[in-house]
Amino acid sequence: MTHPLLDPNRRAALQALGLPAAFVRRSLLSEAEVAALLPRLPGERPGGSQQLQARPATPAAQRTEQATPHPSAQEKTDGRAHGAEHAERAAPPSSASAPTVAMRPPVAPVRAPLASPARLQQIATLDQAELAAFTHDCRACKLGGLRHQAVFGVGHPQAQVMVVGEAPGAEEDRQGEPFVGAAGKLLDNMLRAVGLSRSGDDPARTVFIANVIKCRPPGNRNPEADEIAQCEPILERQITLVRPRLLLALGRFAAQQLTGSTEPIGRLRQRLFHHQGIPVVVSYHPAYLLRTPLDKAKAWADLCFAQDQLALALQTGGTAA
Ligand code: URA
Repeated sequence: MTHPLLDPNRRAALQALGLPAAFVRRSLLSEAEVAALLPRLPGERPGGSQQLQARPATPAAQRTEQATPHPSAQEKTDGRAHGAEHAERAAPPSSASAPTVAMRPPVAPVRAPLASPARLQQIATLDQAELAAFTHDCRACKLGGLRHQAVFGVGHPQAQVMVVGEAPGAEEDRQGEPFVGAAGKLLDNMLRAVGLSRSGDDPARTVFIANVIKCRPPGNRNPEADEIAQCEPILERQITLVRPRLLLALGRFAAQQLTGSTEPIGRLRQRLFHHQGIPVVVSYHPAYLLRTPLDKAKAWADLCFAQDQLALALQTGGTAA
């Protein structure tokens, strides 16, 4: 029987991701299937090269690095950009000769004036519908007066996987749904490649998608510290209510929020963190991938890593750290 990863729909999704069809999980394929997938030189017979060998599977647990405890508040306010992975929302792609790092906007501090105790207390009592209504009415920061609408989130209210992005853009602000622009199409394709989508009745196959902040920052600028701080209890409550078995943090702001680390994405990916006791996997923001297509292969590896971690969490009951 053909392996499900050779399914034509899945292969079409991978192609849309810009990944060659050979980007399937070799550890799940027979050697013959791997050989059948890989490109051949004219006249070459299937399985004729060393590279056609299926890799032995590495147990996910052995590759996993547990998160270190949250850094101190001092470390969290380190506001310097560390490299390209930090700048997923940063201004338009620079010209080939421009010094990209020098053009990056400064990194916002991770935490700054906290939401008031009254706000925290109120949010902690809300159910999903009440939280959505609260978010739509929120005016706790300046973005409340600038948006068309708040973007609460979309997906299954009990999703096994919760995806956390950064902030709504212009299209999301118009439609009231996260990730509906170009980056969203890429995200949908990436999710589809691993059998997930944003709509459906099955919590195992339907994700919940939310952002670190719920209102669009003008001009697509980075979220500011006070905006993140006011939205933080909303995201925390969303996580508590959905109670996913895996959190997928896309981009710097989500990664900082869910891991407490200011390290660049390149150093956070392929490691396992926990937030509210839920496993967290970090990957690149789809908008960054649109500008840096070569890193799509790493994002695919991160999705595979996330799948491994989800499987482990489901096996073991899913709580830790
Ligand atoms: N980028 C994000 O991080 N979130 C969205 O909802 C859209 C684009």
